[in-house]
Amino acid sequence: MAKLNTNTRYLYDHINEYSANLLACFPTSLNKIFLVNSGSDASGLALRLARKFTVKRKIAGVEHGYHGNTQAGIEISHYKFGGKGTSENVLCLPIPDSYRGEFKTENAGLSFSKDAIQRINNLEEKIVAFIAEPIVGCGGQVPLAKNYLKEIYAAIRNQGGVCISDEVQTGFGKLGDVFWGFQQHDVIPDIVILGKRTPNWSSGLP
Ligand SMILES: Cc1ncc(COP(=O)(O)O)c(C=O)c1O
Repeated sequence: MAKLNTNTRYLYDHINEYSANLLACFPTSLNKIFLVNSGSDASGLALRLARKFTVKRKIAGVEHGYHGNTQAGIEISHYKFGGKGTSENVLCLPIPDSYRGEFKTENAGLSFSKDAIQRINNLEEKIVAFIAEPIVGCGGQVPLAKNYLKEIYAAIRNQGGVCISDEVQTGFGKLGDVFWGFQQHDVIPDIVILGKRTPNWSSGLP
C-alpha cells in the first residue's frame, strides 16, 4: 500500500511493469492499456473509444448482461434496466442460452447468431459496438452458445463496429482452463474490459 499510486497521470515504474505483464497475457493485437478505477469505469471508457472510432451511436448488448453501475453502464445492462426504459441507443439481443433459450440443438449458437444478425441488419442505424460477457454472470452464469460470438463478431466488424468482451467476471484465469473468457469462444475482441482481479494469484502473472 505504501507504494501504491492509483492516479495514473503520474507515471512510475510499477504501472509500466504491471502493464507489460498484463499485455503479455493477451494476443498481440490487444496492445494498449488504459488503467481506470473500476469495471464500470472501464465499460464507460470502452464505449467512448468505440464511439470515437466509429462515429456511430447504437450499442448492441445481450439480454441479462451487466456492464456497470454508471449511467452508460446501466443503459447497456439489461440485467439492470430489466427491459424497461431501454435506451434508443441500445439493441438488446436475446441471450444465446442453449439450455433454456429458443434453440437447444448442438448448433444453437449458429441459430442464435443468425437471429441476432437479422435483428442487427433490420436496424436503420449501424452498430458502433457489440458488448458481451463470454459467460453472462449476474444473469445466471450462462455460457454463450458455441460459435455465437464468432458469427456476431464477424457481422459487427463487417458493418464497421467494434467488439468488446466484458471480462470482469470471467477474466484473470477465473475460468480455470483459459486466462480470458473470449478464448473459450475462439475470438479476439477489439477491446477487453477488466476488473476484480483474482486475489492471491501466485504464478507471477498480474
Ligand atoms: C460483468 C461485469 N461487468 C462490469 C462490472 C462493473 O464492475 P465494477 O463493480 O468494478 O464497477 C461488473 C461488476 O460486478 C460485472 O460483473
